[in-house]
Amino acid sequence: MFFLNVIIFLFCIVTVSSKAEKWYSAAIIDRRKTLHNSSNAEFRTNYIQNNEHPFLPLMLIDPKKSNDRRTNFYSAHIFNMKSANSSSESDSVSINYNNTVENLNVLNIVRPKRTKIRKRCPVARPRQMNQLNTKQKPKTRFLEVFQVVEFDHVSCTSSSGLEGTCLPESECIDSGGSTMGTCADGYGTCCVTQFLCDGHSDADTGWFTNPDFPSPSTERLSCTFVLDKASEDITQIRLDFNNFELLPPTDGYCQDDQFIVSGQNINNVIPILCGINSGQHVYIEVGEVDGPINFTFQTVSSDSRLFAIKVTQLTSLDELAAPTGCLQYYTDTQGYLESFNYRDKSDIVIARSPSYLNNLNYAMCIERKAETCSVTYTNSGNMQIVNYDTDGLPVIPPDQAGVEILNCPSDWLLIAATRLCGDRLNDGSVFQDFTVNAPVTDNGAGPIVVWFRSDESYVGVGFKLMYQQNSCNA
Ligand SMILES: *[C@@H]1O[C@H](CO)[C@@H](O)[C@H](O)[C@H]1NC(C)=O
Ligand SMILES: *[C@@H]1O[C@H](CO)[C@@H](O)[C@H](O)[C@H]1NC(C)=O
Ligand SMILES: *[C@@H]1O[C@H](CO)[C@@H](O)[C@H](O)[C@H]1NC(C)=O
Ligand SMILES: *[C@@H]1O[C@H](CO)[C@@H](O)[C@H](O)[C@H]1NC(C)=O
Repeated sequence: MFFLNVIIFLFCIVTVSSKAEKWYSAAIIDRRKTLHNSSNAEFRTNYIQNNEHPFLPLMLIDPKKSNDRRTNFYSAHIFNMKSANSSSESDSVSINYNNTVENLNVLNIVRPKRTKIRKRCPVARPRQMNQLNTKQKPKTRFLEVFQVVEFDHVSCTSSSGLEGTCLPESECIDSGGSTMGTCADGYGTCCVTQFLCDGHSDADTGWFTNPDFPSPSTERLSCTFVLDKASEDITQIRLDFNNFELLPPTDGYCQDDQFIVSGQNINNVIPILCGINSGQHVYIEVGEVDGPINFTFQTVSSDSRLFAIKVTQLTSLDELAAPTGCLQYYTDTQGYLESFNYRDKSDIVIARSPSYLNNLNYAMCIERKAETCSVTYTNSGNMQIVNYDTDGLPVIPPDQAGVEILNCPSDWLLIAATRLCGDRLNDGSVFQDFTVNAPVTDNGAGPIVVWFRSDESYVGVGFKLMYQQNSCNA
């Protein structure tokens, strides 16, 4: 009966899918005290060696398995920890087991039996222990003490709130990631690749965060992260500003704090950003450069700043890829277009002063959805796009919409080839009363693009527009 205790340990087999392949790895999930006194020398060795590296990639299984995201449990009949060769119980998979983690990566694969699905971690039963003691089936003595859990490389939310990828711990560490919390019911770790100040990486995704994230950083920052292209066919980098709180601009210029992108295609202007841009995103064109691309935060004083930017490298075939030249790209049927530093909400109580920036000239693109024929824009915030004449007087009175070049000579939104500005959104097509907002509909063919331009002086709060793509039958 001593062996009963000895062998009550649980191995956990974790499968992950990488593209079409599925790897299984093993982890000790329940370390009983008696384990180290196992009479099985080989197993004891393995256990001790892998104490600090508990996930062992073991085998590749059935590349054609569907992408079912749920967790499945298999019994351990499909493999045998002891033998380098197949046993009768595990003839579908052979494991070349060397007592080093590195050597476990490459294994022979044959399609395993996949019929034995269990609902929960099975525990060794006396019958099997008897088999063990009598050594009738030494190769399969771990039968049914393994638990197989399958999970995909799905995204997960880490303990710091950043989105990560659910991976076995060892894979996360090998890929240079930080393990932040668990996923897949505790069998995986939420793996986050962090890009830090003065860092350098060629990872295809990662998070560029302030040094003290998720807390704000209060010291002065002069912080550059250098990103190499993950491969030659990377054409764009998407930045998602999960958190972006810097000091606001002064008269439309980022005089105090700056976020600067450099190294991208020479004709791709990424505005220097400051203020609050949480929730915004930008695309950077890098198809014509070899890299690296630098991301720099410069701050002037010891105030609180917070940033967490998801950096995603994209090839032109990626689903997330945007049409060339779009600084922002929206793929939903309905959504919001918002100017930079529009938000008046801070998580860290930083000084706020919503206003767009000077010298902007960029395109917000919207993916045309199937069977939609037009887009309607409505003002959904406190719009203010200002134009002053050469005498420094406003071109149009306050609380009015401006339309076309005489009203909007310097700062304007361009929707359906019409310049729009002022404190209301109204192109005059529905209501002629320019003191009220009115929906603006673009039923033009071709790419759906809203441009925004500003000159080198006079800024207003900006805009937040809701867009809605309309069905062709409407
Ligand atoms: C293992 O066995 C040794 C003696 O063989 C004993 O001193 C020790 O306490 C045992 N360890 C555990 C964890 O039971
Ligand atoms: C495994 O197979 C090889 C040849 O296929 C053989 O030489 C070796 O003895 C086998 N080992 C065991 C433990 O069965
Ligand atoms: C096991 O791994 C060690 C260290 O990497 C290596 O030297 C040895 O050749 C390996 N043995 C087998 C059988 O693969
Ligand atoms: C990027 O940063 C590195 C290191 O700070 C620097 O050597 C390089 O010149 C920078 N490249 C660009 C395009 O700013």
